[in-house]
Amino acid sequence: MAEYLVELYVAQGDHVAAQHHVALAEQAGADLAREGRAVRFLRSIFVPEDDTCFLLYEADSAALVTEAVGRAGLRLEHVSAATTSVAGAHESSADTTKGTSMTSTTSSTTSSTTSGTGPDLKELRDKQQKVWSSGDYNKIAALTVPVSEHLVDHVGVGPTDRVLDVATGTGHVALAAARRSAESVGIDYVPALLDIARRRAEAEDLVVELAEADAEHLPYDDASFDVVLSAIGVMFAADHDAAGRELVRVTRPGGRIGLASWTPEGFVGGMLRTVGAHVSPPPGAQPATRWGTEEVVAGLLGEGVTDVSSVTATVRQRFTDAAEFADLFLTWYGPTYAAAGRLDDEGRAALRADLVALAESHDRGEGGGLVCDWEYRIVTATRR
Ligand SMILES: C[S@@+](CC[C@H](N)C(=O)[O-])C[C@H]1O[C@@H](n2cnc3c(N)ncnc32)[C@H](O)[C@@H]1O
Repeated sequence: MAEYLVELYVAQGDHVAAQHHVALAEQAGADLAREGRAVRFLRSIFVPEDDTCFLLYEADSAALVTEAVGRAGLRLEHVSAATTSVAGAHESSADTTKGTSMTSTTSSTTSSTTSGTGPDLKELRDKQQKVWSSGDYNKIAALTVPVSEHLVDHVGVGPTDRVLDVATGTGHVALAAARRSAESVGIDYVPALLDIARRRAEAEDLVVELAEADAEHLPYDDASFDVVLSAIGVMFAADHDAAGRELVRVTRPGGRIGLASWTPEGFVGGMLRTVGAHVSPPPGAQPATRWGTEEVVAGLLGEGVTDVSSVTATVRQRFTDAAEFADLFLTWYGPTYAAAGRLDDEGRAALRADLVALAESHDRGEGGGLVCDWEYRIVTATRR
């Protein structure tokens, strides 16, 4: 395969926009590779003073690279075979070349903190914690109960397992593990959601240890769990690399990791993109749905795991109509609620209209209300 360089225009040298473009480009490359196409995203070079972001791909042909960029929804200015000098630049470990900032290293180990001008991930984490504390996630949490049950069964949680549910929210996975007689621990950084999880455990007379903690800094010793799981949870961590490392660190050798995440191409991937089109994601935010791609998760878990594999499934949702779906999410779901709060009346109405249109486009047309299938991917791995 040869290397190709893609040039993208980034208005006003906007670092956040550039990072978003890179994440989409990486995702599109991984999607095509998964479909068996000979293309791989390698890295990006951002030149803010020139309003330009370069993407370096390895591929069979320039046409394939153009297809990847098109699939990412990006408008390329130019694609060319990479020259020796460019290859030399990307092999350099220096993060500045004519003021460039390297925003990514490989398709599997993207880091958003490699440049001195990179985003403050601690600040992003604090912002996201506030987002998840807003609205009332409990009002919609029941929609994903089947995802958690599927995850726990798929990984084969049993009575001899000590299980950690990362980003447990109102406790779906932790409760499901406890119902299977496992020793169950759940963590989340929103205390109000943990309180609900505690009430649910009490109501079912289940023993579940629930603790306020950050997925990026788990308060547990190395190798302290047989099984580490997360359903639609760790994908929302601010620092994907740190969260991936923590999942691996706390799993014992031979232990299993299982992560269920919305896919980029599924309904919720579309919903998050719709929100992002109305309200720019916070600085440094990487698309959460990266975790819905096996290759990306394999990269985030790194060398500490083996036997990475995945299955894709859907969870069926039913609403009175598309408007009920939109209003439910605009009122109770932290990310949409917080985004709507940053818009004026006109902006909110436009976001609502796009959410309604999205839901209608996914309707199975069975009558009796809106019925749609939300796609997720479970990626599993074994700790070496
Ligand atoms: C969509 S909810 C899913 C909750 C739960 N796993 C479920 O299946 O219902 C996402 C959860 O991730 C939590 N979360 C996101 N980032 C986190 C972090 N860095 N540390 C701990 N919890 C986090 C949020 O507080 C929220 O409860």
